[in-house]
Amino acid sequence: MNKLVLVTGGTGYIGSHTVVELMNEGFDIVIIDNLSNSEKSVLDGISEITGRRPYFEQFDLCDKERVHNFFKIYRKVSAVIHFAAYKAVGESVEKPLMYYQNNLISLLNLLQAMEDFKVHQLVFSSSGTVYGEPDELPVTENSPVKKATSPYGNTKQISEEIISDTIKSGYELNAISLRYFNPIGAHHSALIGELPRGVPNNLVPFITQTAYGIRDQLKVFGDDYNTPDGFAIRDYINVVDLAKAHVISIKRLLEKKNKTNFEVFNLGTGKGSSVMEVIDSFQKVTGVKLNYKIVGRRAGDTEAIYANTDLSEKELGWKAGIGLNETLQSAWEWEKQYQNNS
Ligand code: UFG
Repeated sequence: MNKLVLVTGGTGYIGSHTVVELMNEGFDIVIIDNLSNSEKSVLDGISEITGRRPYFEQFDLCDKERVHNFFKIYRKVSAVIHFAAYKAVGESVEKPLMYYQNNLISLLNLLQAMEDFKVHQLVFSSSGTVYGEPDELPVTENSPVKKATSPYGNTKQISEEIISDTIKSGYELNAISLRYFNPIGAHHSALIGELPRGVPNNLVPFITQTAYGIRDQLKVFGDDYNTPDGFAIRDYINVVDLAKAHVISIKRLLEKKNKTNFEVFNLGTGKGSSVMEVIDSFQKVTGVKLNYKIVGRRAGDTEAIYANTDLSEKELGWKAGIGLNETLQSAWEWEKQYQNNS
């Protein structure tokens, strides 16, 4: 019989790609999502790709009673992947209480219900942002977790601490925290992808929307960084590669291959690319000329960060496989498909 995995935030960007990869591997899926930053039509894309429809429950994880009742009904859940959270760095600076409230209360409710109903396996969606501005590159899982530069980043740090403290208390929980670098791209079918609400904050959706003509001009934030070409460097990781790491993590937990009760892994490519390298690649692979302008630095931005992925390679047997060009092409195919059909 297929194992049932609960994916919170499963209609979101990384969540939906992960649901597809889990279903392709024979897992049954139940999604909890309040649709605050996603659309129900994502379920159609998932069904079209996999030939199956995940169970879907629409409610807010901050509602403790609903979370409890969910586990009462779905007795067969054997593992949880927790994606559901607010994720915009800038917005979190403006609305810190909303971020702490949502991201932390939802995790607490989930952990409590998991304990009550004896669900012991958790994969947590964390972020490379926990390293702040690193002293050394690439960052390893042992690099210091520095003071967070935003309430959003702080919620990821605190969430990891909550999970770790819970485990230390003796509560029977096995958790894997996956620290993502910069997820980009879309499923090769172009049936699911990133769906930013309003003006995108992130580089790649802004690029694809500019290329499509929805935005007039891309602003490139800063050309005076202490990097080879002066532009900020990030580790851009393909979202399908990222999704596959979640499947491996779930299997690792269910097959009891984890080495400790709380493992942490970086998920990146191990290679940094500058903003201008991303723009150049996009123009080269798509043949679309981008209208961009170099402006001042964006407040709060890190100069350069990319991951050391030795641990995830060794322990998870996982390595990013899809390159930047192909990933940017997939983001473009998704943008065109989505805009043409909406
Ligand atoms: N950038 C531009 N123009 C834009 C948007 C971004 O030049 O319109 C630049 C940024 O200044 C930065 C790079 O592109 O140098 C990447 O920026 P993103 O906004 O795409 O991503 P961030 O690295 O700022 O943040 C991402 C996620 C966060 C996560 C963080 C972890 O959005 O959720 O990575 O490092 F916390």
